[in-house]
Amino acid sequence: MNNKIVLISGASRGIGLSIAIHLANIGFKVIGTARNEFKFDSTLENLIPLKLDITCRESIKAAAISLKEQNLLPDVLINNAGITSDQIFLRMKDEDWDNVLSTNLTGTFNLTKAFIKNMIKNRDGRIINISSVSGLMGNPGQVNYSSAKAGLSGFTKSLAKEVGSRGITVNSVAPGFIETDMTSFLDNDSKDKIIESIPLNRLGNPSDVADLVAFLASDGARYITGQTISVDGGLFMY
Ligand SMILES: NC(=O)c1ccc[n+]([C@@H]2O[C@H](COP(=O)([O-])OP(=O)(O)OC[C@H]3O[C@@H](n4cnc5c(N)ncnc54)[C@H](OP(=O)(O)O)[C@@H]3O)[C@@H](O)[C@H]2O)c1
Repeated sequence: MNNKIVLISGASRGIGLSIAIHLANIGFKVIGTARNEFKFDSTLENLIPLKLDITCRESIKAAAISLKEQNLLPDVLINNAGITSDQIFLRMKDEDWDNVLSTNLTGTFNLTKAFIKNMIKNRDGRIINISSVSGLMGNPGQVNYSSAKAGLSGFTKSLAKEVGSRGITVNSVAPGFIETDMTSFLDNDSKDKIIESIPLNRLGNPSDVADLVAFLASDGARYITGQTISVDGGLFMY
């Protein structure tokens, strides 16, 4: 155990689950959240599931109080929970916009607001936001999602500048196409077309993202802040 505590949103499946298990395996105590009740399918004792909707500020406040009482305030916060609600812009409903922005962008604000004070007090902390290649290069049908994810880049840079002197790093990770429930709607033809545009010639696995996040959470990443780092097989090069 390395005695550091991680809180990661959206840890019940997909990328978040992979990150949670990876970090627990290398000794972090990991609190993983999701909207629905869930259990980790693992014998690791340092993996703690927590039902928490990141769009609900009242629930976050209550969770932060409870975690403080248990000495479980996070040293590392991973804002991973995200949703899509794809539609071409002309047909995009107000609620498609509102829901996607409130989870992917405002949810990150909500969780960070609740947990950064303790990092400032400790003069040590890591904040890792899971963005998307869609926020960097745009994607038709995802005006809402790419706006939210592009917003995370601004969030990351501004906050990194504010809290760098307090020993806190803030970075984003921008995955490309990763095989999870979020991309399960893609049929084989669509997948083949996407793969043609990826230099490394395959879709990503959640563990490809988890490896990068584990590095950013480690001491080795102590001099990296304000960055958005892609893990997309070379899909988008800038
Ligand atoms: N898969 C990709 O190709 C890809 C590419 C680029 C970026 N990303 C980003 O990577 C992150 C993870 O994506 P994924 O593919 O692993 O998604 P996923 O398989 O759909 O899992 C999403 C996770 O977020 C949780 N969640 C959703 N809304 C939440 C809320 N309001 N509060 C708390 N938890 C919530 C879900 O659990 P509940 O439903 O129980 O809440 C689930 O645990 C997202 O930010 C996504 O935008 C994914």
